[in-house]
Amino acid sequence: MNVAVRYYSRSGNTQKVAEHIAEAAGVEAVSVDAKDAALNEKVDVLFVGGAVYAYGIDDKLKQYLKGLSSDKVGKAVIFSTSWLSKHAIDLIKNGLTEKGIPVESETLYFKSKAVDASRDEAVKFAKRFI
Ligand SMILES: Cc1cc2nc3c(=O)[nH]c(=O)nc-3n(C[C@H](O)[C@H](O)[C@H](O)COP(=O)(O)O)c2cc1C
Repeated sequence: MNVAVRYYSRSGNTQKVAEHIAEAAGVEAVSVDAKDAALNEKVDVLFVGGAVYAYGIDDKLKQYLKGLSSDKVGKAVIFSTSWLSKHAIDLIKNGLTEKGIPVESETLYFKSKAVDASRDEAVKFAKRFI
């Protein structure tokens, strides 16, 4: 099974969760603005994460979602962090749905202050889809 983990993180919280998921999947977590962020071959599962910043997700993540192709993604699984709001999950889901990419209904979310203790739950969550 091909798995990829992509995220955007301004201050490192979502990156930590991405790295736990990537560890579970045995792949690298790659920031959406990294050179190797594009999906070169089809993945069965794409874990995609981001955070909310004043009611929106970062433009870099928005652009990345716009550039995705349904030919390259079997299913997307969303994760997010924030102080309180889960709105990024809806925004990421909308971006994926607009591209015709199926989205897993279960999502992974941590409040920012809980991220440092997120490893076990993140690994357990990820393993259910890989
Ligand atoms: C400018 C700014 C605006 C934010 N707005 C919200 C918000 O409206 N609601 C919320 O729950 N968290 C908000 N947050 C908190 C971030 O979503 C949270 O710190 C998140 O974990 C950051 O993820 P990152 O470290 O991966 O960038 C905001 C943070 C910043 C810096």
